[in-house]
Amino acid sequence: MAYNRVEIAEEEIEKQRKYMAEIRDMWHAIGRVPLACIDTYGCQQNEADSEKIRGMLSQMGYDFTDDTHEADVIVMNTCAVREHAEQRVFGNVGALTHTKRAKPDQIIVMCGCMVQQPTVAERIRRSFRHVDIVFGPHVLYRFPEFLHKVLTEKGRLFSVAESDGAVFEGLPTKRDGGTKAWLSIMNGCNNFCSYCIVPYVRGRERSRTPENILKDLKDLIAQGCKDITLLGQNVNSYGKGLGTGIDFSDLLKMANEVPGEFIIRFMTSHPKDASEKLFKTMAQCEKVAKHIHLPFQSGNNRVLKEMNRRYTREMYLDLVKMAREYMPDIVITSDVIVGFPGETDEEFEDTLSLIEEVKFDALFTFIYSKRTGTPAAEMPDPFTREQKQARFERLVALQNSISAENHRAYVGTTQTVLVDGKSGDSVYNLTSRTNGGRLVHLSGPEELIGSFTEAEITDCNTWALFGKVKK
Ligand code: SAH
Ligand code: SF4
Ligand code: F3S
Repeated sequence: MAYNRVEIAEEEIEKQRKYMAEIRDMWHAIGRVPLACIDTYGCQQNEADSEKIRGMLSQMGYDFTDDTHEADVIVMNTCAVREHAEQRVFGNVGALTHTKRAKPDQIIVMCGCMVQQPTVAERIRRSFRHVDIVFGPHVLYRFPEFLHKVLTEKGRLFSVAESDGAVFEGLPTKRDGGTKAWLSIMNGCNNFCSYCIVPYVRGRERSRTPENILKDLKDLIAQGCKDITLLGQNVNSYGKGLGTGIDFSDLLKMANEVPGEFIIRFMTSHPKDASEKLFKTMAQCEKVAKHIHLPFQSGNNRVLKEMNRRYTREMYLDLVKMAREYMPDIVITSDVIVGFPGETDEEFEDTLSLIEEVKFDALFTFIYSKRTGTPAAEMPDPFTREQKQARFERLVALQNSISAENHRAYVGTTQTVLVDGKSGDSVYNLTSRTNGGRLVHLSGPEELIGSFTEAEITDCNTWALFGKVKK
């Protein structure tokens, strides 16, 4: 796969800054602070994009609300990964006909992965006529221009042309605050797993430069962020096509050298590109969390081949073994798909046995969802929804018992945790995370919010640990 990396020119971003300033001046002249409501679906990549949308809106003078009735602009940043996510979006956007009827000047925007699919864009064009602006992830940076055009000229605007995508720098971001932050290091995906829509809607894999990433990292640390996740669909192939010779492990080392007290995580890792160098680097870098999210998808080699994952069950198990040799306490989480087209009961048993063998700390479990345009959508799929649901339930029950067992091993230990906020509970008044990312409901003084502390783990359940701050 060729890597053809295009960076959006600074003049183009400058043009967007002018649009932002004009919109801000317009609202200033009207003499009212406009309100925006942002609804984000899907993965952390979308969360990171929404931070940019919020940043741009903020520069345009907007304040934020959760109430769709009072919003001057509503942005739905959508996800296409499973049918269920799309149905939720269509349901929610349908409901906005009422808010718009009561407030005809309201501008409704749909962006993100879902609208990048031509059939979806067409459906919105025809059947959701109250939606004013529709644009895909490739042109996120042009949001100010789109909003400006619709505010000044009225009418509807669609920008969903197919593209390999580009890298853009220099957009403002506005985060929710707090100790956690997302830092996108690359966009797109070249893997084309046969079930997955992401490569079609997010374009080709392209990496940001180490300089720009490290600059953002330093900014986040200066803002008080202490738990920073480097994001990409496949971070293990970071740097390809950049020509710097810096791979993901090198980037981790560079991030580890940035001064300050913080943890670096990353997701997602594709097993085909995870290497001994990565595990060695993780083990050596004290700021890199001892946690890896390593989706396996299926424990059966025929299914893995049909999925175009390009590793085998044996290769996956070897990777887990190697990771644990370098970091005996590493937390390993994963994604799995149940009911891939043609997956038999016997093949599903291989998925269960892999789970038993690895004993993941947590697992994100999905029932296969047909995505039109992907190769798997054309494969015969003889098993019923009920059969798949029954497999799914067995899998969840197995993982729950493993999670509970893994959690019991923490009871009686002391863990360094990052306290991230209040919980609302009277006993366990704080929430916190271990280095491996496990949730700890904690009792202790509120002054600790935003800092690392030692916690004695006293109890647990399937989903979380409980503890108290060590005196
Ligand atoms: N790039 C990441 C995954 C992004 S999508 C990776 O490869 O690890 C997150 C998860 O959604 C995937 O790991 C997969 O388990 C699930 N998923 C993707 N497409 C799906 C589909 N069509 N049906 C069900 N689950 C799907
Ligand atoms: Fe989808 Fe596979 Fe790319 Fe992940 S690696 S985004 S599952 S195509
Ligand atoms: Fe969804 Fe797009 Fe993320 S399809 S999972 S929001 S990359």
